Amino acid sequence: MIQEMRAAIFDLDGVIVDTAKYHFLAWKRLARELGFDFTESDNERLKGVSRIRSLEILLEIGGMTLDDETKSQLAVCKNNWYVEYISHMDASEVLPGAADYLRYIHSRGIGIALGSASRNAPLILERLGIEALFDVIVDGNKVSKAKPDPEVFLRAAAELNIPPAGCIVFEDAEAGIEAALRAGMGVIGVGKPSILYKADAVIAGLHQLVIITLT
Ligand code: BG6
Ligand code: MG
Repeated sequence: MIQEMRAAIFDLDGVIVDTAKYHFLAWKRLARELGFDFTESDNERLKGVSRIRSLEILLEIGGMTLDDETKSQLAVCKNNWYVEYISHMDASEVLPGAADYLRYIHSRGIGIALGSASRNAPLILERLGIEALFDVIVDGNKVSKAKPDPEVFLRAAAELNIPPAGCIVFEDAEAGIEAALRAGMGVIGVGKPSILYKADAVIAGLHQLVIITLT
């Protein structure tokens, strides 16, 4: 249920920036090296999912079973490629309306946090030049339980010093919507209503809120 928004918690990948295309390139490259194909529709299954779980899904698609040691080596290899791709990003890749909406709600005294599963979040924020828009940053380096566990959002609320019921989460992944609901927060889905139907409301992107709130 959506109540008064005292704080807003934003997922990063798919809400602030479209990194899914770089994850896709890196996972596809790994699949090719392992001898099978990986499609864009397969990539949908990895959104919001942790790095190691993503690898497990990829191996499932390729019909492969590997030991933990090999899996962690492959995860490192995929991440090295991914980091190489995202290192070339710049401010032009911030999704439409995202920076304007964050500045707008900041001007209304609303606390702003990042709540991302990614361990690469600090690098991405630095490349996009938007770290300063967040009061609090909670990413995959700070939490031990992946979404749909609510840990990332509960920690963001605690660091903002706002009770969960006063927080609204912006999420593009089913696992993230589930995590926000389990945290007792309001949640706006960013993407398709057919996928994000559990959210309190669904928008196509933050640019829609800029039109509503700034006009
Ligand atoms: C999420 C992405 O935000 O972060 C997932 O939606 C990704 O696709 C996860 O697997 C972990 O990211 P990283 O950068 O730590 O590998
Ligand atoms: Mg996401």
